[in-house]
Order: sequence, then structure tokens, then C-alpha cells
Amino acid sequence: MKISIIGAGNVGGLAAMRIAQEGLGEVILLDVVRGLAQGKGLDLEDSSCVLGYNYKVKGTDDIQEIRDSDIAVIMAGLPRKPGMSRQDLFNKNALILKDICLHIKKLATKSVVIVVTNPLDLMTYLALKITGFKPSKVFGMGITLDAARFTNLISRELNIPNTEIQATVIGSHGEGMLPLPRFTNVKGVALNELLDDEKLQQLVKKTVGRGAEIVSLLGSGSAYFAPSAAVSQIVRAIVKNEQRILGVCAYLDGEYGIKDACIGVPCRLGKEGIQQIIELDLNKQEKDALIQSATRLKEQFDNVTM
Ligand code: NAI
Ligand code: 2OP
Repeated sequence: MKISIIGAGNVGGLAAMRIAQEGLGEVILLDVVRGLAQGKGLDLEDSSCVLGYNYKVKGTDDIQEIRDSDIAVIMAGLPRKPGMSRQDLFNKNALILKDICLHIKKLATKSVVIVVTNPLDLMTYLALKITGFKPSKVFGMGITLDAARFTNLISRELNIPNTEIQATVIGSHGEGMLPLPRFTNVKGVALNELLDDEKLQQLVKKTVGRGAEIVSLLGSGSAYFAPSAAVSQIVRAIVKNEQRILGVCAYLDGEYGIKDACIGVPCRLGKEGIQQIIELDLNKQEKDALIQSATRLKEQFDNVTM
């Protein structure tokens, strides 16, 4: 498997490390800044000799190196800065993403494309439109991370190991995110049966605000440990054809009553990318909130200038 990581910044460098260390494939690490990906590639290979692993990471600034990739992960762009909304980022990152996707379309025609660049749902939709690939092959990592954050907060609140919790988050990766207590399972019990409404709302609010909380604490840049872990979890599901259900930003064509939008929903992932979109039996309030989140995304997409 050839796995190209486009954007060798904080998330890209760490994702390359995780994917290489897990032995998921041959890793190409690409950045537009000359020397950055090459330097990280050499450093990663050196560390393999300390750890006793046997992997190679090729760092490059030449986009031609992504030719014939099986998986292309796009995390090139600008990180979110304090006070900056995901929408503010869109116009700048859209231009970067467009150029990368045109190259993927030409050089890696059969690849599964995983988008990470923010604003995630809008960038995923753009990547789908520019590559023209099948929707099952182009999707985004956003709510995968949000589900991890929700899990962590629940684990802390209940003092239960995170391995006993299966959290579900749907919606857009941003303010339109919907952590779902009814579909969050703690040792077989729905979260809404374990906590009162006030506590649930606090956990939901904390989950939605987690990315911004980390941004303001870091002072510069945004989260990268958990995002890179979520990327490698998705890559693993594809490489190992796990048929595992994870939340990803997927193109909906009528599912959940939403048409022509990319938004986070649970999907079964395997070697072809998205093998199935799982339709949860949402109640009216949950479904309305998801549709509202998709409607907002469509409005934001209409305002893009490229
Ligand atoms: P970073 O600034 O550390 O890295 C971005 C890298 O992209 C830089 O090294 C830059 O030189 C490179 N780049 C810019 N244009 C490029 C091009 N045309 N080709 C190749 N490389 C190019 O940022 P970080 O923290 O790694 O985040 C990357 C992106 O991922 C941001 O948009 C960020 O908001 C997003 N993100 C998304 C998450 C999610 O859950 N979807 C989670 C964390 C970050
Ligand atoms: C996050 O949620 C910035 O999308 C990134 O941390």
C-alpha cells in the first residue's frame, strides 16, 4: 500500500509517524515547504532504528511522488488560529486543496482520499467535486476525532476506562457537531440513562468546544496528537479491510433526508473506502439538528470564493 500524506505540518508529521510505525504501508510525506518533509522523513527513519522497527518514510516537495498512491491524506493548509472560525479558513485552504486534488485526480486515480484540512466538511465536499471520484472514495476525518474527545470526557466524568465507552458524534466538524448521548454506549447502557440532562449538556458543550479550547491553550496552531491518531485509525481500517464502523464526513445522497452535502455520519470502512453509510434511527430533534447542520454547510459553501 502506498500512502501519501500531503502536508507535513504538525498533524501530517505525526500521522506519518503513526502510520509508518504501525507498518500500514510505504509512506510518502509531502510539503510545499522545501526541506520540511524531507527533514521529517529522515528523522522518522532514524527513530525507527532506535525503536527497532523497519519502515521507510520518503519526504518530498515534489507532488509527482504521490503517483499511484492507494491512499492520499490531505492535511495541507493553514491551522485554525485563536478567534478564527473554520469558515474563515475556507477561502484560503480551498485554493490549496483545489490544486492538490487536481494532482490527485491526475496522478492517483484509484486512491481513497481522506480529507483533514479545515473547515473539514466543506473541504471534503470540494475534494469530491474536484476529483470527481466516487463518493465512497472521498471522505473526511473530523467526527472521528470528536467521538474520541466525547469518549475522553465521559470517561473522566464517570471514572470508567475509555475502552468501555463507544461514543457517537454526527454532524459537521465544528459548531454543528452533534454528540449523541442516546447512541453512546457505556458498557451496554445508553449515556442518557446514566447522567441527567444538565450533566449531558455540559459534556456535549465541552466536546463541541474541545478543539477551540486546545487552540486557545496552545496559543499557536491546533491539536495534533488526537487528530493524527484518528487519521491512522481510518487508514488502518482501509488497509486492513476492517469493515469497522467509524464516524467520517461522507457524501449523503438522500440518507438522513440530506442530499448533496458532505457531513459526519457513521460509516463502515474497508478497502474500498466507505462500504456502507449507517443510518441511525434518530428522533425528530436529532434529525432536525443534523439537517440544520447540513443546511448551514451548504450556505457556507455557496459563499466560497476561489
Ligand atoms: P500545520 O500548519 O502544522 O501544517 C500544514 C502544512 O501544510 C504546512 O507544513 C504547510 O507548509 C503545508 N502546506 C500548505 N500548502 C501546501 C500544499 N499546497 N502542498 C503541500 N503542503 C502544503 O497545520 P496542522 O496543525 O498540521 O493542520 C493541518 C490542517 O488540518 C489544518 O487545516 C487544520 O485546521 C486541520 N486539522 C483538522 C482536524 C480535523 O479533525 N479534521 C484536526 C486537526 C487539524
Ligand atoms: C480540532 O478540532 C482544529 O479541527 C481541529 O482540533
